[in-house]
Amino acid sequence: MHITIHPLPPTEIPTFITIELAAFAPHPRIPMLWPRGYTPDLHAYMARVKREAFPSPSNHFIKAVDSDTGEIVGVSQFEIKEEGDEAGELLAEDAPPPGDWPEGGNWGMKRFFARESWRLVEGSFGRGAHVVIDLLLIHPTHQHRGIGSQLLQHVLEEADSRNIPVGLESTPAGLALYKRHGFVETRVIKADMRAFGWREEYDEEAAKRVWMVRDKVGGREG
Ligand SMILES: CC(C)(COP(=O)(O)OP(=O)(O)OC[C@H]1O[C@@H](n2cnc3c(N)ncnc32)[C@H](O)[C@@H]1OP(=O)(O)O)[C@@H](O)C(=O)NCCC(=O)NCCS
Repeated sequence: MHITIHPLPPTEIPTFITIELAAFAPHPRIPMLWPRGYTPDLHAYMARVKREAFPSPSNHFIKAVDSDTGEIVGVSQFEIKEEGDEAGELLAEDAPPPGDWPEGGNWGMKRFFARESWRLVEGSFGRGAHVVIDLLLIHPTHQHRGIGSQLLQHVLEEADSRNIPVGLESTPAGLALYKRHGFVETRVIKADMRAFGWREEYDEEAAKRVWMVRDKVGGREG
C-alpha cells in the first residue's frame, strides 16, 4: 500500500464526513451527542459547517489516498493561524443551536465542548502563530498501518517550516500516536455527561479528552 497526501476539495466533504463518523463510532460520547444515530440531518449539518470553513485561508482539509486503489483512507482538518490573527468567536454560554441542528442532538454538550476548546486554544497560544489540528481520522478498516502517522507528519512539517507550535485535543485512541510525535499532555478534560442529561452508564476514561501541545522546533531542546 502506497499512501499519498493531497488537499481535499469541497466536493469530497461527504467522504470526509463518512470517515469522521466511522472513526468516531466507537467513542462513548457519540450515542449521547447523536441519540438518533447518523441521520441525514446530521450529515447535512456537518456538511454545511465544513463548507463554511473552506473559504477561510487558515483552514486546511487534507486526505490520505491509497494510490493502489484511489480510496481515501484518512482525512484531517487543521488551522494555521498567523501572529495576530483573530481568534474564532467564543460561543455564548446560552447560545441557541443553529437552525439546522440535527433533531435530538445534544446541543448543551456540543456547546460546552466548543467553549472549552476555544479556551484551551486561547490559553495556550493567545494571538501567537500556531497550528490547531481539529480532526485527524483514519477509516477504521485502515487503522494501525501507519497512515495516521503519515497524515500527522504532513501537518507537523507545515508547522515546523513556520517554526510554530501545534495543539490538539486527543481522544484516548490518539494519545500514543501524538506522544510519539512530540506532543505533551497539557490538560485532561473530563466532562460529567450526566450534566447534559445522560442517564446511562458510560466509560468516563474512554470519554476523556486531553489537550496536547507540541512546542515549536526552535523551542525544543536537542
Ligand atoms: C488515532 C488514529 C488517528 C490513529 O491512526 P492510525 O493510522 O491507526 O495510526 P498509526 O497506524 O500511525 O499508529 C497507530 C498504531 O499502529 C501502530 N502501527 C503503525 N504501523 C503499523 C503497521 N504497519 N502494522 C501494525 N501496527 C502499526 C503504531 O505503532 C501505533 O501503535 P500505538 O498506538 O500502540 O503506538 C485513528 O485510530 C483514528 O482515526 N481513531 C479514531 C478517531 C480519533 O480518535 N482521532 C484522534 C483524535 S482527533
